[in-house]
Amino acid sequence: MTATDLAALIRTRAGQEPVRLGLILGSGLGHLAQAVEGVAIPYSDLPGFPHAGVSGHNPNLVIGTLEGVRVAVFGGRAHYYEKGDPAAMRLPLTVLRDLGATALIATNAAGSLRPDIRPGDLMLLSDHINFSGLNPLIGEPTDARFVPMTDAHDPDLRARLRDAATKTGIPLPEGVYAWYSGPSFETPAEIRAIRILGGDAVGMSTVPEVILARFLGLRVAAISTVTNMAAGLSDEKISHEHTKAMAPLGAAKLEQVLRQFLRDLAVTDTAV
Ligand code: HPA
Repeated sequence: MTATDLAALIRTRAGQEPVRLGLILGSGLGHLAQAVEGVAIPYSDLPGFPHAGVSGHNPNLVIGTLEGVRVAVFGGRAHYYEKGDPAAMRLPLTVLRDLGATALIATNAAGSLRPDIRPGDLMLLSDHINFSGLNPLIGEPTDARFVPMTDAHDPDLRARLRDAATKTGIPLPEGVYAWYSGPSFETPAEIRAIRILGGDAVGMSTVPEVILARFLGLRVAAISTVTNMAAGLSDEKISHEHTKAMAPLGAAKLEQVLRQFLRDLAVTDTAV
């Protein structure tokens, strides 16, 4: 099925009203999808959407209203490390655009390299480093592949998110996210290298989605919930179990910030 067909299918189930904003929920952050008043469509009903590959993800697309804004919430994402395809989210994000969205907020779980950003804290991505060297646009034949990545993390969306965080009293420091392919975690030497290169947090997702979103003309911003200090920076053992156990700590803060962001967005009639 093409993205156009999928968007039509989704509209028959969720209604014709255009979606304003997409939200991708990372590991352990799926709770927010349940707060949306609307229709949940299992990815398995949407050919080409990712399978439920990673525990801690809830594979539904939820279309509905959250804090007065029509949203499409992705209760899980495909990661590069699942099948080796960096473009695995291209179809879902194309569908999002075809449903009318002009912006995307991506969330993820990440390890922190900064002593002032601790497990349970949030970090807004000011920029990213593609430490994997992979690109979801390799093979795209059109000149549209030459996507500018200056201000890829949209300054206006970031300002709105920072403003929402200030209103809720939740700290939202900004930092640079480095994409590591996974699925193994990084070595301490890799973390030291990422620090030298200017990374503040590290994770296994989001960067391909940011590239794809810009390619599709969606404005994009992303927030990490820090689940651990990166390898070699604390005595704590790093594991996926630990990530899932720690994610709810930041998830509660993330939910507050996103709800405030949406409430503010509901009363503005600018493009997003
Ligand atoms: N590294 C990569 N991905 C992660 C980490 C990490 O330390 N924590 C949560 N996701």
